Amino acid sequence: MATSPLKAASRSLLAQSWRLLCRNKLRSSACDRSRAISSYGYTQAKALVYSKYGEPKDVLSIHGHSISPAAGSSVVVRMLVAPINPADVNQIQGVYPAKPEMNTALGTSEAAAVAGNEGVGEVISTGSGVKSLSKGDWVIMKSTGQGTWRTHMAVDESQLLKIDNKEGLTPLQVGTVSVNPCTAYRMLLDSAKWNFMGDEWFIQNGANSGVGRAAIQLGKEWGFKSINVIRGRENKEEEQKLKQDLLDIGATKVITEEELMSREIKDQIKEWTHGGREQIKVGLNCVGGKPATALAKFLSPGATMVTYGAMSKQPLAHPASLLIFKDISFTGFWVSKWSDRNPEQKKQTVDDVLRLTRARKFKDIPVQECKWGWETEVDTLKAAVQGTLGGFRPGKGVFVFEET
Ligand SMILES: NC(=O)c1ccc[n+]([C@@H]2O[C@H](COP(=O)([O-])OP(=O)(O)OC[C@H]3O[C@@H](n4cnc5c(N)ncnc54)[C@H](OP(=O)(O)O)[C@@H]3O)[C@@H](O)[C@H]2O)c1
Repeated sequence: MATSPLKAASRSLLAQSWRLLCRNKLRSSACDRSRAISSYGYTQAKALVYSKYGEPKDVLSIHGHSISPAAGSSVVVRMLVAPINPADVNQIQGVYPAKPEMNTALGTSEAAAVAGNEGVGEVISTGSGVKSLSKGDWVIMKSTGQGTWRTHMAVDESQLLKIDNKEGLTPLQVGTVSVNPCTAYRMLLDSAKWNFMGDEWFIQNGANSGVGRAAIQLGKEWGFKSINVIRGRENKEEEQKLKQDLLDIGATKVITEEELMSREIKDQIKEWTHGGREQIKVGLNCVGGKPATALAKFLSPGATMVTYGAMSKQPLAHPASLLIFKDISFTGFWVSKWSDRNPEQKKQTVDDVLRLTRARKFKDIPVQECKWGWETEVDTLKAAVQGTLGGFRPGKGVFVFEET
């Protein structure tokens, strides 16, 4: 039945006033209470935004806004899980090379960016021009900088990567697949000529990090042995438990930074590698400073050391002899740039990690969940972000979104 012009006009008027009411910060509780109204296709959303750089606790605020119905090639996504990675915090602090675009597109009073770079969401509606996605699909971001710390987002279809088969996977597994596992996967596989005969090694620091754990498990899958360096714990029982944790997911050896820098370790590593006949072909470094120098010394001639982080904030210093006489190559890796340059390979890498996850060969990382519901206070969200760079944490911070 055709809609009468009067009905259509009043519907459009209603939609406009709803939009006006909720476009800016959702201050009034009346607006909060009626957020579920969806007759006109508007989605009420909240985002963690910042309009200047600084410590997360000082610069993050929550911004409520409404999202218009999906049109054209746009897609409305409800976020399910978004991790809090060290790079996200560095970005908010303004010390990360990739700076987000700040604008007033969400109706903030000042130009602002939505924080967060990784996560998984569920498609809740699609514009009429959307070809590859439909309601209920799970999607991750094709590239970083999309701002994932928000309950919902409107995004162009071209920015999303569909998870072809979400069967047997949890939002946590999918929401943390594209940064850490992809980084570990590419750094390990692409940094050496491996023979996959089970007699090759890599060595890494930050071994209990998300990337480190991914490297251990991928290495195991590909038949690489690993020497994994962690920071020692004051509580030795805790330290032993952490070592055992990493051994349980496939680490060959786990040592502390202190052990790495001890006199005895040289003979120990010689013994593990059968007098050096089994080569240590790759070193992965996300720490820097003295522990990174110590790690580089154990690489076999012709090996590659890849630096992908600088958690200790200490510079790298390597003896010239490693370059001249041992022909060690020192390189870096940045998954954001790699993903932008290799979109197809990124999809393959994600698919392969998810295949391993489904096959229970890739275990969940330990996490500290921060539930994000409609009523969650901004201080709770900020506190979850602030502690990220603190170190000695039991798990990675992740926002788990409740249905809002
Ligand atoms: N280049 C890239 O493309 C790329 C991609 C992903 C990650 N990253 C980098 O990789 C690193 C790990 O990231 P993630 O997400 O895997 O980390 P994560 O799971 O959040 O874990 C943080 C790791 O950093 C260690 N750490 C913290 N403070 C430290 C300090 N002062 N000195 C030494 N180690 C310290 C922690 O060890 P404790 O438990 O002992 O505190 C833990 O192993 C970060 O630097 C991140 O920026 C780079």
